[in-house]
Formats: sequence, C-alpha cells, structure tokens
Amino acid sequence: MSFLLAVSGVLVALTAWIIYHVFIEPRFNPLQQIAGPPCGLFKGNLRKLLDPISSSKAHHIYVRRYGRSIRIRGVGPWDERLLTLDPLSLQHVLKNPSIYEKPWQSRTLITGLIGCGMLSAEGQMHKRQRRVATPAFSIQNLREMVPMVFKKGTQLKDKWMSMTAEACQSSKESSLTLDVCRWVSRATFDVIGIAGFDYSFNAIHDESNALFLAYKEMFEAAVSQGKPWRTMLSIYLPWFNKLFPDERQRLVERCQGTIHRVAGQLVKDKKCKMEEVLSEGKSYEGKDLLSLLLKSNASNELAPENRISDEDILHNINTFMFAGSDTSSLSLAWTFYLLANHPDIQSRLRNELLSISPATGASDLTEEEILSLYDNLSNLPYLHNIVRESLRLIPPVHSSIRVATKDDEVPTMYPVHGRDGQVISGKRSVTVPKGSFVHVAVEGFNLDKEMWGEDAWDFNPDRWDTLPDKVQEIPGIFSNTLTFSSGPRSCIGMRFSLIEIKTFLYILLTSFVFIPTSEKIHRVNVVLTRPFVSKRYKDGSQLPLTISPFEPPSPPSR
Ligand code: HEM
Ligand SMILES: *[C@@H]1O[C@H](CO)[C@@H](O)[C@H](O)[C@H]1NC(C)=O
Ligand SMILES: *[C@@H]1O[C@H](CO)[C@@H](O)[C@H](O)[C@H]1NC(C)=O
Repeated sequence: MSFLLAVSGVLVALTAWIIYHVFIEPRFNPLQQIAGPPCGLFKGNLRKLLDPISSSKAHHIYVRRYGRSIRIRGVGPWDERLLTLDPLSLQHVLKNPSIYEKPWQSRTLITGLIGCGMLSAEGQMHKRQRRVATPAFSIQNLREMVPMVFKKGTQLKDKWMSMTAEACQSSKESSLTLDVCRWVSRATFDVIGIAGFDYSFNAIHDESNALFLAYKEMFEAAVSQGKPWRTMLSIYLPWFNKLFPDERQRLVERCQGTIHRVAGQLVKDKKCKMEEVLSEGKSYEGKDLLSLLLKSNASNELAPENRISDEDILHNINTFMFAGSDTSSLSLAWTFYLLANHPDIQSRLRNELLSISPATGASDLTEEEILSLYDNLSNLPYLHNIVRESLRLIPPVHSSIRVATKDDEVPTMYPVHGRDGQVISGKRSVTVPKGSFVHVAVEGFNLDKEMWGEDAWDFNPDRWDTLPDKVQEIPGIFSNTLTFSSGPRSCIGMRFSLIEIKTFLYILLTSFVFIPTSEKIHRVNVVLTRPFVSKRYKDGSQLPLTISPFEPPSPPSR
C-alpha cells in the first residue's frame, strides 16, 4: 500500500514537473514577448536555419517578418532561443564569453574526442590556454611557415601533374577528374602536421601514416551521422558509452590510443630536446606550434598560475589538428568550386597571379625569395577580393551557438518586434533568461541582403571594391564577415589559414584550369559546410572537379 502511494506520489510529481516545464514556465519566458516564426509543440525551427540549402532564405524571410531579434524554438517549449541578426546584440554576445559560454553539450562532445583544448575550455582555463598559444600565432612566427606551405603546395601540384600525365597516357585526355576536397585536405593535414608539431604525415604522398589515419578516422567518426540516441547518450550519460561501446566508440578509443602514444611521445621528445638546448645556454629555434607553446609556457613573463600542463599541450595540438585541417581544406575546395563555375573570374585571377610569377618559376626559389613572392602575393587586390568573397559566401563554419549563464539584457540596434509582429516602440534590448541558447548566425550575417545588397547570395568578388556602408556594422574579425567569428573566442588560426589559402591558390591556379563536372554539388552542414554530390550522399563528402594543366597562350606568331 505504502509502496503504491510512493509510486503514485512520484508519478504525480513527475507529471507536475513536466506540465510546469512544458506548459506553464514557457508562458513567463521573456523571449515569448518577441516575434518569431510559428512552431509546433515539439516541432522547432532549427532544421530550416541550420541546413545551408534553406538557411539563407529562411534568415531573409524571418528578418523581413520579425525584425532582427527573433525568437526560435529548439526541441520543445522549454527551449525558446534567441536568433539575433542584430549587429549590436551579436557584438554583445561575442564580447562577453563569461556570460555567453559554449553549451556544455557541445563541449562534452568535443572534449570526449580531442580533450579539453582551447575550442572547448571555458573561463580561466580557456584564458590560460589562449594566452599561452597567442604568441605562437604572431605575424612573425606565421611568416616562418610560409616556405613550408609553398613546399607543400608545390608537392600537391607535382602530384596532380603526374596524375594528369598518367591519365593522358592511358586515355589521350589531358584532363582528369578528382575529388578536390580530399586532395586538398591531404595537403592541409600535411601543413598543420609540420606547423603543429614538426611532424610529417606525408599524406600527399600516401595515406598510410598511423597518426594521420588516427586523426582522420576520428574526425570522420565525429561528423558521420551516427545513431542519434547514441549521441544523446554520449552527451547525457557519457559513462554509458564507455561501458557499452558501439563500433564508433571503439574506433574513437582506438584512434585516441594511437594519438596519445605517438603524439604524446612527440611532446615528450620535443620537451627533452628543448631542455637540452637551453641547458647548453643556447636559445631554442623550433618554429612549430608545439615548440612555441612550450617556449611560451616556459617564459619568465608568464605568471605561475597561467602555466599549462603536458596534457593541455596535447589537447591543444589535437585542437589545432581538428580546428585547422578541415576548415582550411573546405574553404580552398569551395573556392576552386566557385572559380570552376565562373571561368571568367578564374582566368582574370590567373592573369593577376601570373603577373607576379618569377620568370624562373616558383620551384627553385630561396627562402628569402619565397617570402618576397608571398609579400607580392598578399598585396594582390583581386586575389584578396576572391578570398574574402569565397569565405563570405560559403563560410566553413555555418553557425555557432552560445548559452546565457545568467539573465541578461541584450542591447539592440534595430527595432524589436512583439509577438503580434508590430514594432515595440522605444524597446532597445531583449531579455534573455539564464539557460537560453543564442544562435550565432555566421552565414546569416554573411549573406544578409539588407546589409550586402540584393546580390548578397552571388559570387561577386568585385563587390569588395565598393562595399555598402552598412556592412561596417558587422563585428567580424575578418573583413566584416563572421567567417572567423569575433571577440575573445574568435578563430586564433585566421592568419594561418589565409597564408595557406592564398599560397595554394597561387600554386594550383597558375598550373591548372578548374572545370566543373556534370554532377550537381550540394552544401551539407555536418559540423562544417561540406560538399556532397547530389543524390550520392551515401558516398560521403566529396567535390569532384576536372583539372587540366594550364598552358600559357603562346605569343602571337607573325
Ligand atoms: C578557413 C579556415 C578557418 C575558419 C573558417 C575558422 C573558423 C573558426 C570559427 C568560426 C571559430 C569560432 C568557433 C565558435 O565560436 O564556435 C574558430 C575557432 C577556433 N579556430 Fe578556427 N577557423 C579556420 C582555421 C583555423 C586554423 C588553421 C586553426 C589552427 C591552426 C584554427 C584554430 C581555431 C581555434 C583554436 C579556435 C578556438 C578559439 C577559442 O575558442 O579561443 N582555425 N575558427
Ligand atoms: C609549463 O610550465 C610549468 C612551470 O614551469 C611546468 O611545470 C609545466 O610542466 C610546463 N608545461 C609543459 C607542457 O611543459
Ligand atoms: C616582388 O616584387 C618586387 C617589386 O616588384 C620585385 O622586386 C621582387 O623581385 C618580387 N619578388 C619575387 C620573388 O618575384
């Protein structure tokens, strides 16, 4: 009897709890006061906003209907969120990472994969890691990496040249169709391996290195569409996954084992070597991020409480691999895709690149000459326009998300609309209750027609010569775009990837012509915006393009 009473007591309490959170509390949620798209009880608005096929249109329509501060629903009525396309609100959110943290759910997923590095740490821990890493990304240190990036670009070019030559022998065709995304990603892995810890994956050559495979398989497992309930479990009951691992969890653990073994040893070796050199009274010359992190950690200027551990170092190297390889290769691959589909723009860019090409070719330049060539390269206006335009139009990070850790007033610059769709006069802020998610619409801002003009969704590099004043409002760290985010949690690798993108564009475009295939390419948001061939999603992310060696037009004969 008392057992039944206890059970029914629990049931009543549970029902009351559910009713309260599903039906009662949401009514008092201040976000309910502002305009937003219709939603069902458990039918939120996320899908349309996160899928690159529909997101630009959805943002556009919402802004026109509901203004720039928009209430959207996540998974249920307890999950009302703020989608802001108001530049002032965005700036407030990104400038105050102590109020607006990354949600613990996504941090758990990332930490479970690569450890708690800069990408997923919060608070003091993040500040400490960022402070130690910042000197490694100084302009001077990045410059040291330029010759290596040139070398890797040249290796990729040579590889493609021999592949087209082979194709030419077997089929008499001088062109070749290849998965540009995959090939470029092999090269960007090589670059980040050397730049990260002075380690050669040699992935352009072949994909057999154990550490390379460990990273690659682990990142692929991370973005593959696994069973949703498994993902939920790994967030809410992480021990369950450890006790009852499925195929994917076992793969991740195997990869982590390899990484811990091989990369952990690299950290140890590097530390020994550095201490050895220092004990001889010399200064240590290593230029890779690992050496620079160790150096920065050992610097006398760093307060003892700001130093980081061996584990932290490994987690941050993992983070650079994770945050720096696919993002760079995707931005390059999408740029080649856009250029292939705009042959006029492609040849105009090629002409600009050829105009600074040394007569002897780029292959046998000294390091100094390569740096001089890179300086010339980074001053090319059309190349800069192309890179900005491509990163604006297809940002690899489609959007991000933050959670309010306390009740907050978010300032607004544009009028706020009420539930009835009418402007609430005099309202200059939006109340965001503790625990609410705020969406950071990277692509949303980048493609905003009211800011960039009617042609905002087109690839038009010339727009950068005469930008509308309005885009100055957008607080991004890169050319008024949000592609690398903004504020204390913005991308630390921005300059690094610009070096990579510009160098690779230079080397590959002066050697090859890029031509689209008949396959239709779609953008799919799986952690990053990736290319898929239409109707062949099962084959995984790929971007087939046809390349053919570029033949400079022979001088007109008389
Ligand atoms: C085109 C290439 C890249 C793009 C578009 C990009 C974009 C971004 C964005 C949008 C964020 C903020 C993420 C968020 O708030 O949710 C971010 C953070 C970060 N990126 Fe990048 N990234 C690129 C390349 C790189 C490279 C090459 C590296 C490293 C070598 C790197 C390292 C990082 C790190 C460590 C963070 C976390 C920073 C922090 O939280 O303090 N990224 N990146
Ligand atoms: C950073 O410096 C502290 C104090 O000198 C040291 O204990 C720690 O091991 C260092 N971290 C790494 C990764 O070398
Ligand atoms: C870069 O441009 C300067 C000035 O035009 C020129 O003197 C130099 O040779 C160029 N560097 C290379 C490597 O082509």
